[in-house]
Formats: sequence, C-alpha cells, structure tokens
Amino acid sequence: MSEPVQTPQTFPTRIFSGIQPSGGLTLGNYLGALKRFVQKQDEGIETVYCLVDMHAITVWQDPARLRQQTREAAAGFIAAGIDPKRSILFNQSQVTAHAELAWIFNCVARMGWMSRMTQWKDKTAGKNAETESLGLFAYPSLMAADILAYKATHVPVGEDQKQHLELCRDIAMKFNHDYKINFFPITEPVIEGAATRVMSLRDGTKKMSKSDPSDQSRINLTDDADTIAKKFRKAKTDPEPLPDTIDGLKDRPDARNLVNIYAALADMAPEAVITQYAGAQFGTFKPALADLAVAKLSPITTEMSRLMQDPAEIDRILGEGADRADAIARPIVDQVYDIVGMIRSRHV
Ligand code: AMP
Ligand code: TRP
Repeated sequence: MSEPVQTPQTFPTRIFSGIQPSGGLTLGNYLGALKRFVQKQDEGIETVYCLVDMHAITVWQDPARLRQQTREAAAGFIAAGIDPKRSILFNQSQVTAHAELAWIFNCVARMGWMSRMTQWKDKTAGKNAETESLGLFAYPSLMAADILAYKATHVPVGEDQKQHLELCRDIAMKFNHDYKINFFPITEPVIEGAATRVMSLRDGTKKMSKSDPSDQSRINLTDDADTIAKKFRKAKTDPEPLPDTIDGLKDRPDARNLVNIYAALADMAPEAVITQYAGAQFGTFKPALADLAVAKLSPITTEMSRLMQDPAEIDRILGEGADRADAIARPIVDQVYDIVGMIRSRHV
C-alpha cells in the first residue's frame, strides 16, 4: 500500500460512526457501538452518527422493511441517549456527499485492498463471489467516504470494523500522497471496553449478528423483558461453575461472553465480575445477568416503541440531521473535486 505521509495533528477532534439499518439493533450494536456513541456525546465532543442505508443495500433489502428499520434504528439511538440537538443523527442517502466521495475513493483504492478485506472474504466464503453486488465489494470505500466527508478524527466501532478502518487510513494516506496535500486526517479507530465483540448466545465463537438466522442467538433491542430473560436462561454454557480468575475463562468462549456482557452492562471490569461470582453456577449467574439486562434495556425498549408511534417526527429529526451533516460535508467534497481537477463552474 502507499507510503505513509507524516500528518501533523491539525484536525479538530470530530467523531463519526455508522450502523446499518439492515435489521433490528442487537445487544452487540448497543454495547459495541451505541452505548459508547452516547458516552462520546456526553463528553461534549462533536459527534456525527449515521444510519448507513446505502451500505445496507449492498445485500438485498425489502424497501418497506428498510424504511421501517431505518426509523427503528433512529428511535433506538434516541432511546439509548443520543440527543439529536447535541449529536448529528441522519441517514446516509440524504447527504449526497457520501456517494460522491465514495466514487472518488473507488478511483484511489485498489482492487487488491478490497479483496483482502476479511468481511468480504467471510461474506463470500463458500459462495460464488461473481453473484455478489459490486457495491458489497466496494463497501469499505463508501465507509471511508462516510468518515472522511467529515474529516472525522475518531471512529468508535466494534472489533469487527478494525480492518475497514485501516483501509480508511490507507485511502486517506494515498489521497494525501497522490495529490500532495495534507487534506484528510489519518482517522483513529476507537475500540474499547469489555464488549467490543459480543458473541452469539448459541455459539461463543461467532459474533452476535442481526443477520444470524437464529433469533435465539441474539438479544434485540425490541425484545420484551420475558424474551430477554428466556434467551439468557437458554444461552449456551458449559457445565463448570465460574472460575475465580479471568484466566480460567480462556478456553470457555460461551462463559467468557456472558461475563463480558455482564461487565459491559454493569460498567464493571470483567475481573470484578469474576471476583463477585467466583465459583457460582450458571443457575445463579444467568438469572442475575438476565435481571441486569432487563433493567438496562427495558427503558430503552419502552422509549423506542413510544418514539415509533410518531414516524413523521423521526423523519423530521433525520431531515434536520441531514441538513447539519450536509453543511459540514458539502464544502469538504467540493474541495476534493477541486483538488482532483474537476471543473465546477456552477458552484463558483
Ligand atoms: P452493523 O450492525 O454491522 O452495522 O454494526 C454497527 C456497529 O455495531 C459497528 O460498530 C460494529 O462493530 C458494532 N457491532 C455489531 N455487532 C457487534 C457485536 N456482536 N459486538 C460488538 N460490536 C458489534
Ligand atoms: N461497516 C460498519 C458496520 O457494518 C457500518 C459503517 C458504515 C460505519 N460506515 C461507517 C462504521 C463509518 C463506522 C464509520 O458495522
């Protein structure tokens, strides 16, 4: 890949992150992303959060469901504590700068970079890649455009997005290098906390995902208290009690996952959870975890369904967010056109 360009940190701190509205939000999204989005906002940093509907259609989405899921995700963000006055909250397709910059980046990034993405490899494993959409292949280029259209310096995400963010850095470096300008920041991923990788409740070696065919594998932010409790009670575990040190969880992915979820929900270190529950059977630990999850998630679920009663208000919030996002991204992308050598006489 390209030579790194030394970039002095001249870019003001700005956070950007995105979530695909390709299904309901899961506990993985909440702990790995959303909860931390709220923390960043509450620290007073400038925060831009995007429902990436254009990423969602890289695989088939039923139009009516996509619209519904986008509103539901917006409701989930607000219910979880995103304040649309303090954060910018919008859906990607309303701000055309994303698609425009993605095209430029398609011409900066190399095919080989995309082919090496593990998410691409995973999604096409055992399938005929020839039948996947071109958009799925170029997905990381659009993701880099999302981030760099705002010159975002920090991106909070779960562990699975690390490689995509490295590619975003490579694109920024190659653009800066090719056009000999220190234009884009070299964005830092922010992957922190006990739950950067929440695993399936049915298989502790697989990521909890909104696209898993088994609903038992995940907690949805729309699940009611009974469902949440039932899913945790039925979660896969091993017959051993909880160990008395964190090392004892090393080869026990299912147990480790439940401890990490508890820690993230309770804002505790996993070590502290182990200290509290050393020697406990799952018959004790699982109900405690279920109670904690219900206590933390129920208020969000309730608020989400209240917000969903008024879809017009959600659309209004997304529209207002899009206006504010556009005000930042438009001038940046216009400068990019100029740097690249495109005539833009209609805009002078
Ligand atoms: P996605 O649902 O794939 O659009 O992911 C949106 C955000 O949630 C990204 O920052 C992901 O890294 C994060 N995320 C998704 N699933 C998980 C998971 N199982 N554990 C932790 N973070 C996750
Ligand atoms: N690819 C991310 C995911 O599936 C979603 C995403 C799109 C994103 N654009 C982004 C995340 C920009 C962070 C920043 O989780």
